[in-house]
Amino acid sequence: MHALKIEDALLTVAYIVSSTLFILSLRGLSSQVTARRGNAYGLIGMGVAIVATLMHSEVNAYANLLIALVVGSGIGALMAARVAMTAMPELVALLHSFVGLAAVLVGYASYLGGHGADEGGRAILLTEIFIDVFIGALTFTGSIVAFLKLRGSLSGKPLLLPGRHALNLAMCVASVGLGVAFASAPETTGLTWLLIMSAIAGVLGVHLVVAIGGADMPVVVSMLNSYSGWTASAAGFMLSNDLLIVTGALVGSSGAILSYIMCRAMNRSIWNVIFGGFGADPAPGAAKAAGPAPEGEVRETSLEETASALAGAREVIFVPGYGMAVARAQHAVQQITDTLRQRGVQVRFAIHPVAGRLPGHMNVLLAEANVPYDVVLEMDEINHDFSRTDVVLVIGANDIVNPSAQSDTSSPIYGMPVLEVWKSSRVVVLKRSRGAGYAGVDNPLFYHENARMLLGDAKQTMDNLLGRLRELG
Ligand code: TAP
Repeated sequence: MHALKIEDALLTVAYIVSSTLFILSLRGLSSQVTARRGNAYGLIGMGVAIVATLMHSEVNAYANLLIALVVGSGIGALMAARVAMTAMPELVALLHSFVGLAAVLVGYASYLGGHGADEGGRAILLTEIFIDVFIGALTFTGSIVAFLKLRGSLSGKPLLLPGRHALNLAMCVASVGLGVAFASAPETTGLTWLLIMSAIAGVLGVHLVVAIGGADMPVVVSMLNSYSGWTASAAGFMLSNDLLIVTGALVGSSGAILSYIMCRAMNRSIWNVIFGGFGADPAPGAAKAAGPAPEGEVRETSLEETASALAGAREVIFVPGYGMAVARAQHAVQQITDTLRQRGVQVRFAIHPVAGRLPGHMNVLLAEANVPYDVVLEMDEINHDFSRTDVVLVIGANDIVNPSAQSDTSSPIYGMPVLEVWKSSRVVVLKRSRGAGYAGVDNPLFYHENARMLLGDAKQTMDNLLGRLRELG
């Protein structure tokens, strides 16, 4: 009895230490300067949690656990090492599907493993099991669809069935009805209701995510991240595991906050994203004009002209976007930054909150190329500085610098905050064509009096530009 109490106390201490480390990890990950430390806290926290769980008196199948740990960690390490930065959202979606599946399996195991004698305790446990399996099944299938859409194995176009909202509502109502039948069934005879509900929740997960356009997938992945956190939390209640409750709540709330931030940066309501339909016509990425084609002429520039404009400038701002990620131009960008700074030019970076395809995409790439953190600024910190900037280099960005977001009420991106690059003395846009960005809308920036296009692959262009700058001495 005495030994058990000490073991319980040690376990509680380990769980508190682990929860604190997870909170510190989230805090650290919120800034580039502390991100490495944040990652380390998370790793140690998870290590403590695993060791503490293994020490639990009820855990004894060590051989099985060791095999699972070795195989799981091996596969995880391999996937993480191999994944390209642009494919990160699909890997995250796949990992969420595992969390959903695990929650479903734990729910079934808890139900079949028997559940206490007293009526009140049993009712609570059955409710926890039901909620856990419902969210888990929905997360599992929804994440698989998100994964397939992001990979391009399924069309990015939203599939909008007639009466889809009524269908979703009917599935939710049916699940509640099944929940009542499940909770009132004696012993484990409610299994049939649990199985039927799992199938319905799985279909609901597929239906919810197929209705959402490819452009919104990163927000959906972040929402699914949130759901996977809440299932883990529900599993924590079911298993009376405080650490799982806390960790699940951390993941659930941080995923929800991230989804909200992304929606705000795109000027979309979260409900509009969750209930889908955006991007039905046209498909994301397909070039189309929101209104009449912008007036004016698109002017091109040369490497020589751009190199001398940069070398002769006092203040330069670089605006990276998805094209920089695709071309993997960040190292050339860093070298140009160094060269210009050595010449006494002030170089800064303007980062839009949804530049690229995942939160923090540009920050990660620039950090990887060792661009100093202090010259990388968020949109709100730098947007008012464009009017006093000599040259802006837009590197593979499009939607995030589209002025029609401010001026064209018919544009699908109207209302989205954008970087006001056109206010500077000269804007040079590096991309391969005049084609549209992810939202599929024309960009009047290209027709601006002070804008010039430098066409070509971003990496190639930046390498050549570096050569020209070096020639200038
Ligand atoms: P986009 O608007 O997608 O524009 C990227 C541009 O890069 C394209 O127009 C393309 O033009 C160019 N490009 C592609 N490959 C290139 C290469 N190898 N070299 C040079 N240029 C290349 O990207 P953005 O400005 O970063 O905006 C992000 C978009 O994604 C927004 O619409 C945003 O709402 C959406 N989105 C982002 C997120 C997050 S969290 N970041 C989440 C959901 C949605 P060419 O084909 O002519 O080269």
